[in-house]
Amino acid sequence: MTSSSEILERALAHRPRAAALTEACRLLTPEEGISHLAIDRYGDVIVLQEFEPEPRLPLIEAMADFLRTRLGCQCVVLKTFLKDRTRLHLTFNRSVALPGKAPPTSLWIEENGLKFLIRPNEGFSTGLFLDQRDNRQFLKELVVPHMSVLNLFCYTGSFSVYCASAGATTTSVDIAKKALEWTKENFVENSIPVDGHTFLARHALDAMTGLKKQGRRFDLIIIDPPSFSRSKNGETFSLKRDYSALTALGRDLLSDAGHLYFSCNFSDYIERGLPPVGGLARCDSPNLPATPIDFDRGKPTFVGTLLKAQK
Ligand SMILES: C[S@@+](CC[C@H](N)C(=O)[O-])C[C@H]1O[C@@H](n2cnc3c(N)ncnc32)[C@H](O)[C@@H]1O
Repeated sequence: MTSSSEILERALAHRPRAAALTEACRLLTPEEGISHLAIDRYGDVIVLQEFEPEPRLPLIEAMADFLRTRLGCQCVVLKTFLKDRTRLHLTFNRSVALPGKAPPTSLWIEENGLKFLIRPNEGFSTGLFLDQRDNRQFLKELVVPHMSVLNLFCYTGSFSVYCASAGATTTSVDIAKKALEWTKENFVENSIPVDGHTFLARHALDAMTGLKKQGRRFDLIIIDPPSFSRSKNGETFSLKRDYSALTALGRDLLSDAGHLYFSCNFSDYIERGLPPVGGLARCDSPNLPATPIDFDRGKPTFVGTLLKAQK
């Protein structure tokens, strides 16, 4: 039987390029030999994500020890994802530091020459979705100075930062004020003045409706929503329910020669493909990047497409 350290050595050997290019990458996907476990690196911090019904403490601790010695990363955080959250037992909360150095509450990592604030202990996400790294760079390369970009469900604004760093004027929308504050921190750290950019704390559909009423058009629209969400005041978003409205508004807000990038991690759409969008056609040139090397041995984590207005 292959030991967990052999599995990890093999996984590390597969991604030397990703590890050299960025301080943040996936070190192990759940499909590389240890089911239900993904391991990410953010600088000196390792984040293990367990998707197992019952946390496997001895295995997890052995892996943490291996990673500390092999990579010299002293801080290891474990995040546990249980479908039935009543089964999270006391020692395994949503995010726990494993023995070793306590992880910092926040740190900056560099990706493609840009800096992003990571909060390793923050809920289920850390501030940056690593699987979208190459798409962020791809969309940045579509930007020409002064182009207008609308980034919906922006979270920590990583797509906005990439586009703004290439000279775009961005509008970032997220229902969570905290996400927009995080987005602004990312702008500032990258020496992008927030003054020339717009940050809207609204439900995406309301924000889009408002922008449409103002007669706004955007050269690039990024829609990367969650599958489902419920805001603090009870408003819900359901991708399945709202897909048509979301994409129709996206089409209405797109300038004639503009591009709309749509992606999501909704499992039905990953398996069956994204439903077609009226008035928009798939754009095959330029082509979206292939799965990055640190994710290509795992199951697809999202489905994405680049669309243009139908002529
Ligand atoms: C899957 S993430 C989006 C990831 C993001 N596009 C990125 O590149 O990092 C989910 C984000 O959507 C936001 N969100 C959830 N429901 C929303 C809604 N109805 N309108 C606007 N934002 C919403 C959340 O606050 C969260 O920041």
